[in-house]
Amino acid sequence: MGRLGSGRAHVEAMSEILSPDERQRAERFHFQADRERLVVGRALARIVLGHLLDIRSDEIQFCYNDFGKPSLAPAQNSADFQFNVSHSGDIVLFAVTARRAVGVDVEQIRENLEVDAIAARFFSTRERADLAAVAADQRCAAFFACWSRKEAFIKAGGVGLLRGLDSFDVSLKPDEPAMLLQTRPDPTEAGRWVIRDLDVGPRYKAALAVEGSICELKTLDWRPDPGVPPCR
Ligand SMILES: CC(C)(COP(=O)(O)OP(=O)(O)OC[C@H]1O[C@@H](n2cnc3c(N)ncnc32)[C@H](O)[C@@H]1OP(=O)(O)O)[C@@H](O)C(=O)NCCC(=O)NCCS
Repeated sequence: MGRLGSGRAHVEAMSEILSPDERQRAERFHFQADRERLVVGRALARIVLGHLLDIRSDEIQFCYNDFGKPSLAPAQNSADFQFNVSHSGDIVLFAVTARRAVGVDVEQIRENLEVDAIAARFFSTRERADLAAVAADQRCAAFFACWSRKEAFIKAGGVGLLRGLDSFDVSLKPDEPAMLLQTRPDPTEAGRWVIRDLDVGPRYKAALAVEGSICELKTLDWRPDPGVPPCR
């Protein structure tokens, strides 16, 4: 996990390890915060993957599937590392696994959203019913828990909304653990995935979806020292 707000100079320094196309993409953003999220996410990915592969972070090469999901270039990925990035508000999440599809999502909780109307559009029938049964003062948190779990699962698949949002149900009730409850049309798929919540602070909901099982989950809070340039 990384955070925004380490200062413009440090973000500039981090952008040095990005590829020219990543830097160009970052420069096209109108808002500094959007630019910063991209730079920190990509820099974090490069630093961690560079460490795992024992190569310079600016030498990491990404390729993309037809839906834009980045992965390590096959030539650098004999260990089959898979990763995913998410950013919202001040938080940037990066998750990496060996030999398992992974998706991660963080959502900044916004209290003023019309959650029932959004759920009616994006949630499955079961999720909508579960949300309607949640007490009003807990509904906003339950909504964002559901959203982050759904999005983490969608992102693990890597095909965006080609995977219908109503083709699976995740848990959302405050007393239920994060879980993929049901999948359609293949009901056995639900048993092949693990969804976990990640605690990134009180104003956020975040979730991780991993294919198979999670033997060990290590979480790291990456706080760059603004006085020290990012390692290559
Ligand atoms: C990219 C996508 C998968 C998620 O976007 P998002 O939630 O706005 O953004 P996040 O910050 O969580 O993730 C963005 C990152 O995901 C990665 N990504 C891009 N395309 C991806 C894809 N098809 N699958 C998985 N990850 C993808 C990238 O690393 C990207 O960040 P970067 O370009 O800065 O490196 C988006 O295209 C999408 O389809 N979202 C579904 C939206 C929706 O309706 N969700 C409903 C949930 S109930």
